[in-house]
Amino acid sequence: MLNSAKIAAKGLLHASEVLRQLRAFWDGYTTWRYRNPWATSSERLDAPDQSNPLRLFFDAHTEGPGIWKWRHYFDIYDRHLGRFRDRTVRVLEIGIYSGGSLEMWRNYFGPGCKIYGIDIESACKVYESDSVRVFIGDQGDRNFWRQFRQEVQSVDIVIDDGGHLPEQQIVTFEELLPHLRPGGVYICEDIHGTLNPFAAYIYGSAQNLNACDKSQENGDNNERRLVYSASPFQSAVRSIHFYPFVTVIERTEAPISELVSTKHGTQWQPFLK
Ligand SMILES: C[S@@+](CC[C@H](N)C(=O)[O-])C[C@H]1O[C@@H](n2cnc3c(N)ncnc32)[C@H](O)[C@@H]1O
Repeated sequence: MLNSAKIAAKGLLHASEVLRQLRAFWDGYTTWRYRNPWATSSERLDAPDQSNPLRLFFDAHTEGPGIWKWRHYFDIYDRHLGRFRDRTVRVLEIGIYSGGSLEMWRNYFGPGCKIYGIDIESACKVYESDSVRVFIGDQGDRNFWRQFRQEVQSVDIVIDDGGHLPEQQIVTFEELLPHLRPGGVYICEDIHGTLNPFAAYIYGSAQNLNACDKSQENGDNNERRLVYSASPFQSAVRSIHFYPFVTVIERTEAPISELVSTKHGTQWQPFLK
């Protein structure tokens, strides 16, 4: 009897926690979906940044092989990819279409870059050159990626601008994230819709960044140092960034074994132990 009461009480606690989280999700969702706290702002996502080399290249590129990008992507690219410019870098773009974006990446990263383009359409093979290698295949096919990984060593940057179906984006992410070099950047484009399954998959993965196993807690006697063992996800993934239609995942520069909190200073208020 006592046991059943305990189980029922636990069930109630769990249900109320689930309800609390659903409520928080709903509050966040409706706040930003239906209200606009910045209604007076005139700032636009595509407000031109004249110094962005990708936007400059795109705006000047009025003839030749077509490039098709959302304008607000250029600032996102430059923010996360700028540090790779003029370095020896391996860049993989899924979705070649008319070849212009391959030219854009080559111009942006400089002569030290090697570009891998992937497309399901065999006509895209014409975009192969000394600095660009083209693979024809379906990004939703895990066998295709297995073969790709045998031929190409790990890459620094992945830009998924291919079929844009969530199931293709998930397969590609799962197959390529482990193939991304330490410090590498993974960009998935054209994630559309508020209940998009790829976005939901990434939100779920993102929860792992906050994982903390308190049973592994390892503090010293005066509690100036708190250490949690890093999970495999925390060890490999540095950060996840959400933008309109784009998600960026950055890999850690080196595996992380622990997350450490320390206190510096000698004067402390009494209210927090
Ligand atoms: C939006 S276009 C790419 C645009 C190009 N990156 C640019 O910036 O101009 C999408 C490309 O993805 C290719 N694609 C569609 N489904 C694919 C799949 N399952 N695997 C690989 N490529 C695919 C299409 O053939 C098309 O060329």
